[in-house]
Amino acid sequence: MIVPGSSSQLLAAALAEETGRPLATPTYDRFPDGETLAAVPDFDGNEAVVVATTDSDAAWVELLQLQDAVREAGAERVTTVIPYMGYARQDESFGDGQPVSARAMARAISTGTDRVVLVNPHESGVADFYDVPVETVDASSVLAAPLPADLVEPLFLAPDEGAIGIAETVRDSYGAGETDYFEKHRDRETGAVTVSPSDADASGRDVVVVDDIIATGSTMSESITVLTDRGAARVFAACVHPMLAANAVTKLRAAGVARIVGSDTIERGCSVVSVAAPIADVLE
Ligand code: R5P
Repeated sequence: MIVPGSSSQLLAAALAEETGRPLATPTYDRFPDGETLAAVPDFDGNEAVVVATTDSDAAWVELLQLQDAVREAGAERVTTVIPYMGYARQDESFGDGQPVSARAMARAISTGTDRVVLVNPHESGVADFYDVPVETVDASSVLAAPLPADLVEPLFLAPDEGAIGIAETVRDSYGAGETDYFEKHRDRETGAVTVSPSDADASGRDVVVVDDIIATGSTMSESITVLTDRGAARVFAACVHPMLAANAVTKLRAAGVARIVGSDTIERGCSVVSVAAPIADVLE
């Protein structure tokens, strides 16, 4: 049984189809004091797969409730799929008295599940924070399919060195092109991003900037601006997790992006491709 969190309904449905498992329909209620109640129907079968992106504090609470609810409904084994793990970027304590938030979240989730599946966590080390077995899925290969087939001398570019692996994966999946990466600096006070161009020649070429996440859009819009200044033909923005907080889409549009391509780990208008298949591979 696939059990969707309310933030992952499209992906859960795709996963049910991909794996041939039935899809549960959770129900929701809210008490007068504002507390929520997520419930699931009783079901036959001993495994429940809860699929819930935790892109908000409410989504974390809902996931904890769904984990508990499926046990109450009869599940003997619970798998928790977290397509996008919020708080994963708080993977260390940044100052005296500050929590390791990713660890706190992981410990809470571990109490209600037998195993966890994560999709492209921002830092792979967050898997170690769980007290149950964790499988990590690199779903970045799915980002190649929605790209135009006629990219001109394509360059797959990571906005920082940490993303070069997924840029290479997307290039390999696309089947042609070069890869490169920028050096990135983010001002801790203002959040402003600057990127130092590599020597790669962007002039007249189609460039696909590949990152694990677009959050505020600062990294991506700065990269697009630099590439456009260097004469790139079209610049595409591709990411696994299209968080697109606040005015991120507008920043990318203002910078001249040709198209934003994201997956359904976070369901947005640009979520044009599903990570259901690579998740299904680890569920079998
Ligand atoms: C950083 O290491 C990540 O890979 C992303 O580049 C970053 O989180 C994107 O954030 P933003 O969209 O706020 O610049």
